[in-house]
Amino acid sequence: MSEAREIKEQTGKLGVLMPGMGAVATTLVAGVELINKGHAEPVGSLTQLGTIRLGKRTENRVPKVKEFVPLSEMDDLVFGGWDAFPDDAYDAAVLAGVLEKEHLNAVREELKEVKPFPAVFDERWVAKLPATHTKSYGSLREAAEQVKEDIRSFKEENGLERAVMVNCASTEAYAQPQKAHFSLEAFEEALDRSDPAISPAMIYAYAAIQEGVPYANGAPSLAADMPALVELADEKEVPVAGKDFKTGQTLMKTMVAPGLKARMLGLAGWYSTNILGNRDGEVLDDEKSLKSKEVSKLSVLQSILNPEKNPELYGNISHVVNINYYPPRGDSKEGWDNIDIFGWLGYAMQIKINFLARDSILAAPIVLDLALFLDLAERAGMSGIQEWLSFYFKSPMTLPELYPENDLFIQQMKLKNTLRAIKGEDLTTHLGLDYCE
Ligand SMILES: NC(=O)c1ccc[n+]([C@@H]2O[C@H](COP(=O)([O-])OP(=O)(O)OC[C@H]3O[C@@H](n4cnc5c(N)ncnc54)[C@H](O)[C@@H]3O)[C@@H](O)[C@H]2O)c1
Repeated sequence: MSEAREIKEQTGKLGVLMPGMGAVATTLVAGVELINKGHAEPVGSLTQLGTIRLGKRTENRVPKVKEFVPLSEMDDLVFGGWDAFPDDAYDAAVLAGVLEKEHLNAVREELKEVKPFPAVFDERWVAKLPATHTKSYGSLREAAEQVKEDIRSFKEENGLERAVMVNCASTEAYAQPQKAHFSLEAFEEALDRSDPAISPAMIYAYAAIQEGVPYANGAPSLAADMPALVELADEKEVPVAGKDFKTGQTLMKTMVAPGLKARMLGLAGWYSTNILGNRDGEVLDDEKSLKSKEVSKLSVLQSILNPEKNPELYGNISHVVNINYYPPRGDSKEGWDNIDIFGWLGYAMQIKINFLARDSILAAPIVLDLALFLDLAERAGMSGIQEWLSFYFKSPMTLPELYPENDLFIQQMKLKNTLRAIKGEDLTTHLGLDYCE
């Protein structure tokens, strides 16, 4: 049993700041307000509906997660953010077309009050948006200062002591860490000279961490997952996590692949194709943003199947991912997966998955859980990379010397054992021997 950590009380309201107030963000805000009014249940949220077993099965202790660890209540959340368009959350939600009018009208007043700050925007990073609601600044350092000022005024106006940031902005052009990202000093110099290697997503992340605001990245854009910002998070003792919400096709992939591996079934190929028609899809219609998403989606199989350990099963996989923008679908994405597997004596079989998903319906509860867990981490004195939140991401952040765990069930165990550890409970090992002996 580990020693319980001291966890500060969750007094007062919690600010949830989202760069990008489009489909995902407004589906979250509308959902929380609807649930608070008793119109719906928080389906898909581990913090609200999940349970956690404590001790042995014979002890029969299985509280709800939210009764076990001290989390903010859903009606203690206050929402804010930034967007490249001036629409309030009601108008943005109508435009996103995820929720029915009847649902939106039930919380119209609350949504109308949520208005975005102007965005730090650069069309070199997101090409397909005719942005109209943007900040003017001299250097990128000034842009970061403006975001910091927004955070401070949001907290002050709403009487908040605590806030978290979850990036829900459009996917930026693909970038890999380079010189300006390797240390905090290099990053800050790059801000001063407005180096084109610094993107808006990085500026929001930098500003949040500077302000002591825990940060998670829901987009596949490069942001806190670079040495400079990890250094800053460690220095400021701020929790960070990312990146790219694990929702439709990749969620399925990280459920099915561990099963194949568990039974030592071979994999010859995995062909995944998607159509989606929302604004996210439109942004991904640009090759540079598409690359960020493809890299993120392609990364998951390797660490689950571990081909070096079983080259006879996984040494020669053809993994293809296609994403196509198809406007008639709106937020109702459709994904097809054809999985070519092989079994005993190498005999071939196929699995087909056709997932008619709703992108933002799957993503909204993830934003809620991340906001509540990031705040918990901060109050429990946990800082830097929060690997236990891998459960929510396609490309989980880990320490540089570690490979990411993408298996959903390992991620779930990691998350729940972390909750047990911070409360000083025994970790669940699922060892059965002690019952028999
Ligand atoms: N299931 C999912 O929906 C899902 C899963 C994984 C990741 N994501 C990622 O989450 C993000 C949001 O998805 P969405 O469906 O809500 O997209 P969306 O297009 O509906 O919303 C994104 C919003 O970000 C705004 N924006 C763009 N650049 C900005 C900037 N620099 N600053 C502030 N705002 C900016 C846009 O104006 C838009 O309103 C995307 O990056 C997407 O790839 C979504």
